[in-house]
Amino acid sequence: MGNRLDGKRILITGAVDNIGKACVASFLEEGARVVIADIDAAKGEATAAELGAGFVKADVSDEASVRTMVDRAVDDLGGLDGLCQLAAVQIVGSLETLSVEDWDRSFAVNVRGQFLGAKHALPALRVSGNGSIVNMASVAGKIGAGVYGATKAAVMSLTRALATEFAKDNVRANSVCPGWTDTAFNNPAINAMGGKEAHAELVRRTVPLARQGSPSEIAPIVVYLVSDESSYMTGQAITVDGGLTMS
Ligand SMILES: NC(=O)c1ccc[n+]([C@@H]2O[C@H](COP(=O)([O-])OP(=O)(O)OC[C@H]3O[C@@H](n4cnc5c(N)ncnc54)[C@H](O)[C@@H]3O)[C@@H](O)[C@H]2O)c1
Repeated sequence: MGNRLDGKRILITGAVDNIGKACVASFLEEGARVVIADIDAAKGEATAAELGAGFVKADVSDEASVRTMVDRAVDDLGGLDGLCQLAAVQIVGSLETLSVEDWDRSFAVNVRGQFLGAKHALPALRVSGNGSIVNMASVAGKIGAGVYGATKAAVMSLTRALATEFAKDNVRANSVCPGWTDTAFNNPAINAMGGKEAHAELVRRTVPLARQGSPSEIAPIVVYLVSDESSYMTGQAITVDGGLTMS
């Protein structure tokens, strides 16, 4: 139990399991109060009850839903100091055959969602006087990785735009780029590359640390970025990938 986030009021999206759930557990351990938002209400209610956070059902691709999500979090927490945006989909497939619907859905959730979250949270983050936005990108945004990679490159660019524009309000914005992290989120990509063994071999061959990361190895970076320890850091994209990209 620490106090690195003492008194911080944090809204986090896409956090009913895996990386987001690890972030919520760390936020609470460091003294924050937290509201989770996700499209999966059943898992969301269960995770929130298990960890001691609030929960609001939201579809981040929908503006009315995001407005309600932010209002609920601000009401429940009495303000907002941190917005962490992890909600995302990963649609796998060749760009030659990808449908326009799948392209649009990917950008609607992964990019429009983060734009809407930042837009509607800004008034409360401004009042905080020390606001921090942490957007989940991916190393997929630094290499060629289909529509998913394209959305994550957009997340990094969007985050730099938020950092530039919101600095006058003392609201910082940074993104995090995990590499292979051991969650079911990657199952469609792993299946597409021939299954678990083929994937494990690829990881051994291409990742210098020769293994996947775990959600608990990503959460500390998010804690740091939302805390005042990173008060002079904005517009960055922090990579946590076992040495895969070294960039
Ligand atoms: N697992 C990895 O290897 C990896 C690597 C790099 C980046 N990431 C990123 O980390 C984040 C968390 O991924 P994870 O591996 O923990 O998987 P996850 O499946 O636990 O997280 C994604 C969450 O987003 C939610 N979501 C999807 N669509 C939504 C919508 N329209 N509105 C609200 N919520 C929605 C899902 O219900 C889910 O809870 C994602 O942004 C992902 O892109 C993951």
